[in-house]
Order: sequence, then structure tokens, then C-alpha cells
Amino acid sequence: MTAKPSLPSAEKLYIAMVGLPAMGKSVIAYKLQDNLRNMGVAAKVFNNGEVRRRLFPENTSHAEFYNPDNAALVALREDIALINMYDAKDFLNEEGGSIAILDATNISAPRRRKIIAHLSDHPILFVECRNPDPDLYAASVARKTKLSEFAHLSTEEALASFEARIRHYRSIYCPLDSDGSGTDGCPPGEKRPEEYVIVDSLNHRIIKEHLTKEPPYYSLLRDLLVSDWVKGLCLVRHGETEFNRESRIGGNPRLTDKGIQQARSLAARFRDKHISCVVTSTLRRTREMADILLEGRPEVERHALREFDEINAGECDSMTYDEVRRLRPGIWESRKTDKYHAPYPGGESYASMKDRVERGVKKALYLSGNAENLVIIGHQAVNRMILSHFLFRREEDVPYVFIPQDRYFHIVSTQSRKLVELLPFQS
Ligand code: F6P
Repeated sequence: MTAKPSLPSAEKLYIAMVGLPAMGKSVIAYKLQDNLRNMGVAAKVFNNGEVRRRLFPENTSHAEFYNPDNAALVALREDIALINMYDAKDFLNEEGGSIAILDATNISAPRRRKIIAHLSDHPILFVECRNPDPDLYAASVARKTKLSEFAHLSTEEALASFEARIRHYRSIYCPLDSDGSGTDGCPPGEKRPEEYVIVDSLNHRIIKEHLTKEPPYYSLLRDLLVSDWVKGLCLVRHGETEFNRESRIGGNPRLTDKGIQQARSLAARFRDKHISCVVTSTLRRTREMADILLEGRPEVERHALREFDEINAGECDSMTYDEVRRLRPGIWESRKTDKYHAPYPGGESYASMKDRVERGVKKALYLSGNAENLVIIGHQAVNRMILSHFLFRREEDVPYVFIPQDRYFHIVSTQSRKLVELLPFQS
């Protein structure tokens, strides 16, 4: 392989992703690519895993392939990385590209030195992804084990193999913000790259930003890194329950026959549609809804998050609204006066649910890999909060937003498109 001569630089940029496996690098790489393209910036992801799977379809899923002490295999992986570096270079210099995104772990200091040496024709911005949530990390790892490269292994074997792979990566992990002391996994005196950002890929937060001079497109990229991005979220409320019939609050009831029918209509609506992931609360009524939606679709991933459990009605749980009015008039009055802020004794208010519901939204988006047709099945109060996360509402209006049980909200929120539609279950 020989490097081709470079054309003069004109507002072009390499982005090199950095991070251990299952830290959200690809989600961010594709989020950048898709949004940049929508804005008319020619961006392209170059993923090392894809090259590896294309060139070596069978032999590279085993953990030994990632053993940093196995010189022959290290050389093979470096070749794969080089293929992508040259393809990225061609994209910028010969194919009219503006931003080439190298999507790989790029976790070791020698690999990053190689990137810097080979891609000297345009600025390079390193973007390291970290994910602080252990549950999500476990879910991401579990998802990786479903990749076709692990199809010949049982779930346990695939998990063990992927964990061994991660251990290999950890053993050579040199963080971008190394202090050069030689105690953080980086060689002593290792120089940090000149331009880097470290992002919390779950919370869309910049943890560290180190720029000696601003790279091209940086303000745009920074905006994209910290913004929510929703390609297609279907927000569903569970179908009718006995508690709904009796105007009873909270509890953990099951769906009624009518609720089951509503779930079937939802399933009919989605029969021929791809579903990337279904996220429910931990309560029975949303899980039953998901069971029916996913009948005969075992390949669809599903998760139950406590963050999406219905507002905790504390001492009023399982009471009817009429009982609250008669037996707890103080609560009834305070909800009438300021429903958003009024807490149930021993429970929650809309205001106090806000943080957990928003955390749930972030988790759900992360778990779905930000793919289209993520389905969230929630509850009346929870769905009001989710909806108002995307569609600005005054606080006092939030607790009164209409959340039907036979229609769902379809939400798109990207840099170029904002859309919320209410669609019927039955098409
Ligand atoms: O009535 C169904 C329900 O989900 C209850 O469990 C919950 O307390 C209520 O809706 C939330 O709506 P509101 O705040 O209007 O009472």
C-alpha cells in the first residue's frame, strides 16, 4: 500500500474516534455523519470492524485476535486500520469529502501516533467516548454478543469472548487526557494529541476539551456532540387496565380485554415495520403491551427501565380520584392549584419526576443506538414528561397533555427536522 500525494488542504477534517468497545463510538460517529450530510457537509464514517468482517468473515471474533502480545495479529489489525486511513484520505482528497470519521477504538498510543503520521494533510480531531452508566454498559456489551460474528457461539460463550476482547483493549488503553506520568496506561512522557474532546456519550456532555487551535467545522461538531438526536421515536401509552376503568391511580394492574385489543392494534400497525428496540417501564401493563407487540419477533431487543415507571402516587397509590378528593382533600386541592409541583405524600410530583424520566430517555436512545423506530411504552404522566422533553410546553400545561391509549406519538428531532405527529394504532 502506498500513500497517494495529498491535494492542498481546504477546510477538511479527520475525526478519529477513541474509546473502549461498547462506549457509544459508532452511535456518535453515525450521528455526526448523518447530521452533517443533512446540512450539506460531505461526511463519511470509516469503520474498522466493517473492513475486518469483510476481509476476514470468519476468523476474527475470537478474543485472541485482539491480544496485544500476538505480534502477527496486531500487524493484521494495524493493516485494517491503515486501509481505512487511506480510504479516508482518498475521500477527502479525491472524492470531494469534507469530514472523514475513523470509527475504531484507536485506544493505544502507538495507533494514535500512526494516525497522526499518516494523516498529516488535514487537521485531526480526536473524540474519546466514555459512558458512566454500568447498566447501560452491560446492555451494550450484551448487544454486541448478538452480532453475526458470534452466531456460532452460545450467549454465554459470546459474552465471555467479548469480555476477554475488552480486557485485551483495556490492557493497552491510553486515555486522551493522559498526564504523561506513565501510570495511566500510556507510555511515560506520551504527548497528548493537539486537538481532542472527551464526551460522555450517554449524557451528551463534553467532559474535556483540549484545542490548540479550532479545527474546521468545530462549532457545528460541538453542537452535534451535545445535542439530543432522535431519528424516530414512537411514544406509546399502555392499553386500558382495570385501574383505568375505575379511575384508580398507580398500582400494578394488568391490561383488560380492551387493553389487549389495543395492544393487538399496535402490533398490527408495526407488523411490517422494522423496530430497533422496545423500552418499557418495569410495570406489568407496559410489559404486557410489549409482549403482544413483539409476539413472533424475538430478534427485537427490549429493556425495562425503572426511569419510565408511572408517577409514584405515594399514600394515594391505588385510590380512585374520587377517593382522593373525599379522603385527601389537601392533596386534591394542591394538585388543582399547581399540579406540576404538587407532590403526593411519600411519592412524586411531575417536577420531581423530571430528572429520572430524562435519564430514561437518554438511556433508551442510547440502547437503541439512535436507530429509527425506537418504541417506548410508558404511562400517562411519564409520557407527558417525555413529550414535553421534545416539544416545549409550559410547566403548568404539562400535566394536562392528552395521552391517548389507542394512538401514539411519532417524534423526530434532528438538527434539520423537528416533528411530532399523533398517529392511530390501526393503520
Ligand atoms: O390514571 C392512570 C395514571 O397513569 C395513574 O396511574 C397516574 O397517577 C395518572 O395517570 C397520572 O395522571 P394525572 O397526573 O393526570 O393524575
